[in-house]
Amino acid sequence: MEKGSVSLGKRTYDIFVGRGAFNLALEKLSELCSEGRCSVCVADSEVLRAHSKKLSESFGKLPREKFFVVEESGGESAKSFSRLEELCDEFASAKLDRSGSVFALGGGVVGDLAGFAASSYMRGVDFYQVPTTLLAMVDSSVGGKTGINISAGKNLVGAFKQPKGVYADTDFLKTLPPREFSAGMAEVVKYALISDADFFEELGAERIDPESESLSKIIAKCCEMKAAVVASDEMETSPVNGRALLNLGHTFGHAIEKCAGYGEYLHGEAVSIGLVLTALLSRNLGFLTDSDVERIKRVLTLNDLPVKLRSPLSAEEILKAMSLDKKSSRGRKKFVVMKSIGKSETSSEVSDEEVVSVLREFL
Ligand code: GLY
Repeated sequence: MEKGSVSLGKRTYDIFVGRGAFNLALEKLSELCSEGRCSVCVADSEVLRAHSKKLSESFGKLPREKFFVVEESGGESAKSFSRLEELCDEFASAKLDRSGSVFALGGGVVGDLAGFAASSYMRGVDFYQVPTTLLAMVDSSVGGKTGINISAGKNLVGAFKQPKGVYADTDFLKTLPPREFSAGMAEVVKYALISDADFFEELGAERIDPESESLSKIIAKCCEMKAAVVASDEMETSPVNGRALLNLGHTFGHAIEKCAGYGEYLHGEAVSIGLVLTALLSRNLGFLTDSDVERIKRVLTLNDLPVKLRSPLSAEEILKAMSLDKKSSRGRKKFVVMKSIGKSETSSEVSDEEVVSVLREFL
């Protein structure tokens, strides 16, 4: 098993990655129960179903009056005010008090919703992440971003709520649909492109799947990179670089998700296309070569990720969606561009003309 941590002074927490990490989460639950503290596990219903034997056996060993499971659909629509309210009511029914804890067992949706509920219920109770998708393991479970969607956009209401621990057990990935696994790989490729050319080289050598021997190390490497960024710019306030670097490929990606209609592309698939568009933009700005762009496409394709749109979208619509992105500040789009493979930087200097020219070339 791999172990890392996010260094945030008194709020420092550990990240465990690999087979057996779930047992550590169970040990933590058992410890909390024996201290007389109540815990609620918000669990993805698919995960409960796919791992029913293991989960019912493990959860059955915890005291019934101190441990509760709340099932969650895991679909994006769960990230709503109405579901948040229901969840907080369920916490109250379980008699969760300020000494209690919330555990999120599932992917990004469950983590975002349960984390936001934990940040606001009784003005905040302890929170633990037990991610079960690759995307949640390498990205959303680490760093404390939680929230829900409103009609004006995704994740527009939320809070920074750092977990007290992250337990990423790779055994859960074995039942993840292959398309979801690939979507998580887009975030893995993103980390390599942000700051680690050698890692990018390694990713080009083999296709990664849930059985890959190197998987735990790869996830741990991504968590380590994310932990370093979060430790230095927790609230994403740095005027340059900092946490915003993690948005590489996301400015295009979010706009594609929105214009195609949410659900058409998985988040990671849209990020994959966004990485290709960012590579083209970076080439047009004089930083990357054509051969760099091809290398990036090759690594994404190797992991079954899309490198072009499935059906055409209009450049103007995408540009409009990008202007409404919550990462835009004072009317300027904040881009992350690749100065080279493995070295990315934020930039507020990218003009709309440059963006439109890339989109026209690509669409
Ligand atoms: N997913 C980007 C971040 O956590 O900042």
